[in-house]
Amino acid sequence: MTDAIPTGNGLFHKLMNRWVPSGKLHNLVINYPIISDPARLAMMNDQWPGGIVWIGNILYVFNPILVRELIAQQLADQKVSQNGGTPVLGRGGTVDTLGRMVMGTSGPITIEPGNEWKILNAALAKVVGYSANMEEILASIVVNADEFVDELLQELKKGVNVDPSPLVKSSSLGMIIQRTLGISLNDFGTRLAEKINIPEFNYRTYLDAVRMALITHMIPSQMGMNIVLPGGRQAVDILGKFTEAYIDIAKDLAASSTTPNLVSILAQKGITEEEQLASIVNQLIAAGHETTAGVLTVGLRELFNQPEVLNKIWEEIRNLNFNSVDIHNSFRILENSELGRFLLELLRLYPATPIIPLSVNKDMILGGYSLSLGTEIQINLIALHTNNAQWGQEAHELKPDRWITGESTKGQSSVARLKREGIFLPFWAGPRSCVGENFAIAELYITLGKFIQSVFETGAKISVMSQGIIETSTGTSNLVGFELRIT
Ligand code: HEM
Repeated sequence: MTDAIPTGNGLFHKLMNRWVPSGKLHNLVINYPIISDPARLAMMNDQWPGGIVWIGNILYVFNPILVRELIAQQLADQKVSQNGGTPVLGRGGTVDTLGRMVMGTSGPITIEPGNEWKILNAALAKVVGYSANMEEILASIVVNADEFVDELLQELKKGVNVDPSPLVKSSSLGMIIQRTLGISLNDFGTRLAEKINIPEFNYRTYLDAVRMALITHMIPSQMGMNIVLPGGRQAVDILGKFTEAYIDIAKDLAASSTTPNLVSILAQKGITEEEQLASIVNQLIAAGHETTAGVLTVGLRELFNQPEVLNKIWEEIRNLNFNSVDIHNSFRILENSELGRFLLELLRLYPATPIIPLSVNKDMILGGYSLSLGTEIQINLIALHTNNAQWGQEAHELKPDRWITGESTKGQSSVARLKREGIFLPFWAGPRSCVGENFAIAELYITLGKFIQSVFETGAKISVMSQGIIETSTGTSNLVGFELRIT
């Protein structure tokens, strides 16, 4: 057990100074230099096979056995709360702090497992779940991916360095807006500007605010620091205004059309209270765009940094028609294709939600440890996905071939099995797992695949330029930003 770890306050100021003023902040990828600080991960690796560390009041968990226990507890909690009882595990402080600040209330901001969550899941299944409308969902992903590919290529053809991050983020946000409101991002942007009394406010202001809020609130909180960094309150204020405006726009749309949208579907299910609506909208929009955008961005960097991987994928997909690709069984397609195995490596090394924060609402026993009320638990998915015991000495390297049946570490080749055993959980598992899992995989697969096809068709060679470097307090350096360029 280790009870102290360097946290490095100076790092935040470096981050703020270096990236925020120049508008160069990358999305969740920015999380990784901190959460995946090599010194911290090495320390966690040393703790293996224990897979558990106390730092202050926070219990860091990265051991599959305990992970499985926590998922089982969430399942038990679901039943308890459906019967009106109090669940043992709640949403952790990281999610809660930001949510409360955005909402500006002291009331519950997240929906605990139970009937309400069931209602929400059913509503979300209509907009992002694979059900009868799967073809429609895939069609809207294809339209968005085509627009994104065109825009990025147009920028690249100017012969300058291009930071793909803003385009990726707009594209992911566009997908979730299209799915939840039925309108384009441009149309949404115009309506948004009419609702919010901030000059030139558009969805890009919102995207910047999300990143700012993540950095100023969530990252310190994930590190057990109870502080808000400069600029944070302003960012959170913008997020709150955005959410209010989104709900207003959804209501306007419902009044003038018979097509259901997220808010009207929720209303049909009896969820009409402002605070609850805002909580759902907040979670869905942030969870639905920042995550896929982060993985897509880092995916572009890794693709063009690794020509061998890129060429293998190209050989596989050169004649593939993404407009009619069937990705019903997402994990199967991931394991059985070059592009899929590349995505699995991205999800392993850069799980978009690298920390699952939970709070202990009632005294409990976890893996023989007694945890008292108020304990914060953080599951570190990066540590889980990169420990040497499970993934071998090259655990930190992106190697898609490790997923080929029979060749992966310790003979564990099946994604389903690794999930079941609590070893590979980019989307978490159990009742609180990601509701957008299939949607996200489809978005990643189609968008990256289409981009690779277009790049090869135009004969362009793309290089990764100017990777930003930050130093951590522990003396290690990490890559942050990057740009692409036709060379
Ligand atoms: C690569 C992309 C994504 C990854 C890796 C990812 C991962 C996760 C993880 C690990 C959780 C559990 C978080 C926790 O318990 O604290 C989660 C929850 C959630 N995700 Fe995703 N996600 C992705 C994309 C999406 C998309 C595209 C959507 C919506 C369309 C979405 C919607 C949600 C929602 C609403 C929750 C909350 C579920 C709950 O509270 O029970 N996610 N996601």
